[in-house]
Amino acid sequence: MTDQSPQAQVESITKAFEQDFGRFASFSSDPSTLSTLGLDAAISEQRAVAELRTRYLGKKSDLAAAKKLIGRVAPEERAGFGQLVQATQDKLETMLDQFELSLGNYIENERTARESIDVTMPGRRPRSGHRHPITLLRERLEDVFVALGYAIEDDREIETDFYNFSALNIPENHPARAWQDTFYTTDGFALRSQTSTVQIHAMQRRGAPVRMIAPGRVFRRDTPDPTHNPMFFQVEGLCVDRGITMAHLKGTVAEFLRRMFGADTVTRFRPSYFPFTEPSAEFDFSCFKCKGSGCRICKNSGWIELGGSGMVHPNVLRAVGVDPQEYSGFAFGLGIDRMCALMYELDDIRLLFENDVRFLEKFE
Ligand code: FA5
Repeated sequence: MTDQSPQAQVESITKAFEQDFGRFASFSSDPSTLSTLGLDAAISEQRAVAELRTRYLGKKSDLAAAKKLIGRVAPEERAGFGQLVQATQDKLETMLDQFELSLGNYIENERTARESIDVTMPGRRPRSGHRHPITLLRERLEDVFVALGYAIEDDREIETDFYNFSALNIPENHPARAWQDTFYTTDGFALRSQTSTVQIHAMQRRGAPVRMIAPGRVFRRDTPDPTHNPMFFQVEGLCVDRGITMAHLKGTVAEFLRRMFGADTVTRFRPSYFPFTEPSAEFDFSCFKCKGSGCRICKNSGWIELGGSGMVHPNVLRAVGVDPQEYSGFAFGLGIDRMCALMYELDDIRLLFENDVRFLEKFE
């Protein structure tokens, strides 16, 4: 406090308060103008008013100090000074109370308006995801084979040498074992390079007879290009029973392709070589687009190459303890990604793995 008289000190408190309160004065005298503030600014003004209250009416305020002077002023001035201090306190409190009340009301109304929900408004549908085109195709393949009595097998993607090579009759010096073709972990495990590994697991688990398909991810050290990706999907098929012949293989693959591409689809087999089948054959089907007359999709050949197949090699049956004298079987495998790219007329299978939502949305 200064060397002013106590009365002058209280009057200057009032003056200083009126000056500080000035920024709220127009809102206080006409609360309807609070709407020009908006909710966020009103909330920060609420804090500013609370600070003003502490500064002018709090325990450490000049007014609190002036109150302590009441006992010390001359007795004839004491009553008058006491009234002045009380009147000042009442005035400041009333101004602050009134403004805080209108500010509080405004804030509450704004909040209610913001949070209110019109229950008659139609809901906003959340954007749900959808299945990837490869998944859609895999499910179609699975449906066809389940209807033909096949079980669906799933298995590991990291394999030992036994499952990836030896049990599949792939000899020690076979080029597929070379590091150029197969990804190896630092511990010497192989990322499976074909779903044929599941033939071994399935026969070990189920013995014979067995009918299963195994869709899944496989990995090869192939340089990415429009028809190759280092990670891609295959589906394996295996049927082992007494008396299974090449005729069953051809009938099954042909029926699968008819169910996928239409009753007029024609299938053809070409001799080939796979270490785990003997005899082996690759299979093609008549182009679903031009029906064999030649178009861009089948590169004018009328045929689309799809995968490999053959009669399960006796060494593979032996590796899993199935007697090749009693049982025989066929197996086939095809690339799902390439099939998917063909069906959707994509020029590049890598589009399927870029996960560009603008592309994937087209398959909803
Ligand atoms: C095999 O992988 C054999 N396991 C198939 C098989 C199974 C034969 C059972 C006999 C008995 P192949 O290496 O040809 O075969 O691959 C099969 C299919 O995988 C190919 O026709 C092709 O569609 C697909 N494919 C191969 N490499 C890639 C790649 N880098 N990117 C995308 N698809 C590929």
